[in-house]
Amino acid sequence: MAEATLLQVANLTLSLKTREGEIVPVRDVSFSLGRGEAVGLVGESGSGKTLTGLSLLGLFPPGSKVDGGRISFDGEDLLTLPESRLRAIRGQKISMIFQEPQSALNPVLTVETQIREIYRSHTSLSSTEIGERILEGLRAAGLPDPLTVSRSYPHQLSGGMRQRVMIAMALSLDPLLVIADEPTTALDPTVALQILALLARIRKRSGQSLLFISHDLSHVRRVSDRVLLMYAGRIVEEAPSGRFFSRGPRHPYGRALLASRPEGGILTRKEAPLAAIGGQVPPLWDLPTGCSFAPRCGRADTLCTTTLPLWSGGEGERVFCHHPDESPLGAPVHAA
Ligand SMILES: Nc1ncnc2c1ncn2[C@@H]1O[C@H](COP(=O)(O)OP(=O)(O)OP(=O)(O)O)[C@@H](O)[C@H]1O
Ligand SMILES: [Mg+2]
Repeated sequence: MAEATLLQVANLTLSLKTREGEIVPVRDVSFSLGRGEAVGLVGESGSGKTLTGLSLLGLFPPGSKVDGGRISFDGEDLLTLPESRLRAIRGQKISMIFQEPQSALNPVLTVETQIREIYRSHTSLSSTEIGERILEGLRAAGLPDPLTVSRSYPHQLSGGMRQRVMIAMALSLDPLLVIADEPTTALDPTVALQILALLARIRKRSGQSLLFISHDLSHVRRVSDRVLLMYAGRIVEEAPSGRFFSRGPRHPYGRALLASRPEGGILTRKEAPLAAIGGQVPPLWDLPTGCSFAPRCGRADTLCTTTLPLWSGGEGERVFCHHPDESPLGAPVHAA
């Protein structure tokens, strides 16, 4: 990795008491993030992406317990910090953009009041300076009339504008790391693409690190330098985006996920028939022995159904699979 490391997650394991029993929604998760680097965390619903993201903020749901691991961020060991220090880090050094801006914004306060509060609680800027920063931030988030937006209540704005406001809020204190958790789910496709372009642009300009969480590989491709593929609580592949999308994922789950994309933009004819991934993510309280993906995997054999894989490859490019797919993706097929 060229950049200096900002974040290092090592063997993070999180358990959670649920009605169905204890689950381990985050299992032995390790990854790093360089300064200025954008990494995409991708996987189906329930794979543990959000819980991984929230862990970085020291936010754990009730009934959960960290069973092991370390999170080093900018020289601090996040899992051992007191709540007061974590609160200072949240917002100032790490901020999160959530999937549904509607619920993250306060409906009874204007945009200006909400952003003002962030500056008030974390900085000693004067009221005038804060006002200027707010307008600058909204403009940088692609809102052409920042003054009107700042005086608006959330319900007076479109979904895309609300998400831009959320982005402006998340960036207001110039954090080192931005976690964007499915930031475009609530938006129509055209607006979603604009928001992705905005995130990519902001990151290039300000040098922030980005953890981009998504179930959509085409979105990850647009904004990420590196891909982390997650399945049933584990990271199962890591690769530079270029390699992942040109040569193709090595984990059969990555292949299947790529093939299930509706636009099929980078599928070969040979792979296209695989389109949908058969079966479902196994329930976390009843995971199969061996590889969790084995029941849905065309390459699985007895080894896979009995024995947990080992990592092969090295830092930055590794796969957790007994039989990784090394065949190249081949020539692209364009939708006729
Ligand atoms: N507060 C909670 N109580 C009980 N179970 C939870 C809680 N939060 C998450 N889980 C469970 O943990 C697993 C991982 O959840 P997580 O939200 O991290 O998944 P995700 O990959 O973000 O999914 P999605 O794409 O749907 O957002 C899921 O099975 C989920 O049901
Ligand atoms: Mg989620």
